[in-house]
Amino acid sequence: MTVSTLSTPFTLRGITFKNRIAVSPMSQYRARDGYANDWHLVHLGRFAMGGAGLVYIEATAVEEHGRRTHGDLGLWEDGQIDDLKRITAFLEDEGAVPGIQLSHAGRKASERRPWHGETPVDAEDMATRDEAPWPACAPSAIPYADGWPTPMEMSEADILRVVDSFGASARRAAQAGFKIIEVYAAHGFLVHQFLSPLSNTRTDRWGGSFKNRMRFAVEVAKSIRAHWPEAYPLAFRLSATDWVDGGLEVHDTVEIARRLKAEGVDMIDCSSGGIGGKERPKRMTITEGFQTPFAAEVRTHADIATMAVGFLWDARFCEDLLGSQQADMIALARELLDDPNWPLHAAAQLGATDNHSLWPIEAGWWLMKRDRLLIKLGLR
Ligand SMILES: Cc1cc2nc3c(=O)[nH]c(=O)nc-3n(C[C@H](O)[C@H](O)[C@H](O)COP(=O)(O)O)c2cc1C
Repeated sequence: MTVSTLSTPFTLRGITFKNRIAVSPMSQYRARDGYANDWHLVHLGRFAMGGAGLVYIEATAVEEHGRRTHGDLGLWEDGQIDDLKRITAFLEDEGAVPGIQLSHAGRKASERRPWHGETPVDAEDMATRDEAPWPACAPSAIPYADGWPTPMEMSEADILRVVDSFGASARRAAQAGFKIIEVYAAHGFLVHQFLSPLSNTRTDRWGGSFKNRMRFAVEVAKSIRAHWPEAYPLAFRLSATDWVDGGLEVHDTVEIARRLKAEGVDMIDCSSGGIGGKERPKRMTITEGFQTPFAAEVRTHADIATMAVGFLWDARFCEDLLGSQQADMIALARELLDDPNWPLHAAAQLGATDNHSLWPIEAGWWLMKRDRLLIKLGLR
């Protein structure tokens, strides 16, 4: 059988992904009190059935106040483990590695779901959905954007508490059956808020110099590693650039990746942007695979595995970027919403001669018979 790079297994520590395709974390805003439900099982399960090697669960809050919206998943209490266990068991049974993205929204907390406006939760949410706003915290008292409340500047005790929460959630993630953690350190969420000079103007050991701004991310990595099995990989999603003058640039991200690698981080998922409001920064130009060069640069200069993400949909494009060693894995979000079977279709497009054997037999057997008939009838 012809095997593409996309379909080649990839190993980090003791965990092997059957191919290079990851489901990028996608918040569903469908949880209640942070608890997962059947929606999450079915939403994620179809990607495992569709052949993805790694299925990441959406941004999952390590503290109740660290949720972005009322619908976010959480792993801040032991009671939340069992519903997730059901999901990880299913994903593994279908051949995918279950991963979780751990998150704290910081100053982006208490936000309305996208279809309710992506603005701060307010009295209308309370009246229509009984959803009350809650106070947000951040490294510095700088609002996320115009019209957003000023977050409370975190004290030393607040910072240490959140660092511990990442570790405690990692312990729960292992109990729930996850095999890889990704820390959400991108898109203007709390870890990114500490890293970026645009949102962190502290003058204590958590801000000021670049080294100090990295401290929170480093402590989060250490806290997770203290609770997370040695054999399981740890990844970080970084915004490789803020796309804003005076913000983080890709050479900073290379430094951050090097520092995190020294703390036991195994892969960097290279995204970008998100630090300063919803408007797209002037410097940001979106084209197919526009963030791929960041994955390549981090991979080369920090000598760490990378995941490329963002505006990827074409199997050959993805194959070329993996084949040319710009990244070790690719992550897809919207394309997989459109076609959860994308990994199976991509394998066929890239020449897998026995493609049906990759499908769950309950579908593959029938599709194989249909294909034979189509060929016999001269219709394919
Ligand atoms: C429905 C939806 C929810 C998302 N939620 C998250 C999230 O929880 N965490 C995250 O890091 N990115 C999130 N993203 C961003 C995606 O993971 C991905 O980086 C982005 O959509 C670009 O990839 P794409 O062009 O393949 O969609 C979300 C995207 C979508 C479409």
